[in-house]
Amino acid sequence: MGRLDGRVAIVTGAGRGIGAAVAEGLAVEGASVVVSDLGAGLDGEGVDEGPASEVAEHIRAAGGRAKADHTDVTDYAGAEDLIGTAVAEYGRLDILVNVAGILRDKMIFNMSQEDWSAVIDVHLNGTFNTTRHASSYWRANKGGEYRLINFTSGAGIYGAPSQPNYAAAKMGIIGLTMSCANSLRRYGVTANCVGPIATTRMTEGIGSGKALNQYEPSNKRMAPQNVVPPVLYLASAESGWINRRVLGAGNGKISLFANQTVERELVASTGIWDTETAFSEMEGAFRAAIEYPNPFDRPRE
Ligand SMILES: NC(=O)c1ccc[n+]([C@@H]2O[C@H](COP(=O)([O-])OP(=O)(O)OC[C@H]3O[C@@H](n4cnc5c(N)ncnc54)[C@H](O)[C@@H]3O)[C@@H](O)[C@H]2O)c1
Repeated sequence: MGRLDGRVAIVTGAGRGIGAAVAEGLAVEGASVVVSDLGAGLDGEGVDEGPASEVAEHIRAAGGRAKADHTDVTDYAGAEDLIGTAVAEYGRLDILVNVAGILRDKMIFNMSQEDWSAVIDVHLNGTFNTTRHASSYWRANKGGEYRLINFTSGAGIYGAPSQPNYAAAKMGIIGLTMSCANSLRRYGVTANCVGPIATTRMTEGIGSGKALNQYEPSNKRMAPQNVVPPVLYLASAESGWINRRVLGAGNGKISLFANQTVERELVASTGIWDTETAFSEMEGAFRAAIEYPNPFDRPRE
């Protein structure tokens, strides 16, 4: 008996890296999986049916149920067909995991419009496209334990300096997920984000030359498979109590991020702020409250 017996999942970006590990993990637990991947290069260029077909074949060879699909998530109509593929092949759709992604890293002052748009298109618009059509299906088929699991990144949450396009897309995905969590709960859907960390082609070159390089391929804690168990939990019918949250996963850890919340608040005594009071009260109340918990937050020396 698998923990996901009878459930049907779509995983985008499932031809490689974390998406492939998620698709395989879902299948091992008994889910039927549409293994969807365009087979694009890291920068989004090119198309290759090989990766998705190989992952689906690998799942089937191990006794699981999988169908390969090669949808480009930036294609709105194609995303509708992808939802239709799951329903036509396996009769339903319970779980949508949006993993597909690309990188075009540049500092903001060197970023072309094209590199900005390409990254927003795959991550944010791609997540919208599949989610939009899955949500229509879920709304029309109330009564399930439906799961939307969207992949975000610490790059967005903390603001990686050389990834303004990616950081914006990944924070956009959190906003989209929060909205879906609030709008779709009544149809049996939970919506959560996962911010992973794992050694894949996306992390090649990170940490090279450092004495302690956690991205070394031999480091099993950083294997994509180490991201999978919390994703399987979110995909299960048991996780209905968790909604509108961001989890971190990978490198041996499963983290629960705090949602955005007001940390301190100043209220004008008359209800109207004057500039002088705002200057002094903000300096007094907010400056002391900021503890600079990550290196990008530190003010310049
Ligand atoms: N690896 C990490 O440490 C890490 C950290 C934070 C976030 N992430 C996120 O996790 C997800 C998976 O990353 P990964 O490291 O496994 O990357 P990866 O490059 O190994 O896999 C990404 C997959 O997405 C597919 N893809 C790209 N564009 C597509 C499109 N338009 N339509 C359909 N498929 C498309 C690619 O073909 C590829 O197989 C991404 O969303 C990434 O941003 C990864």
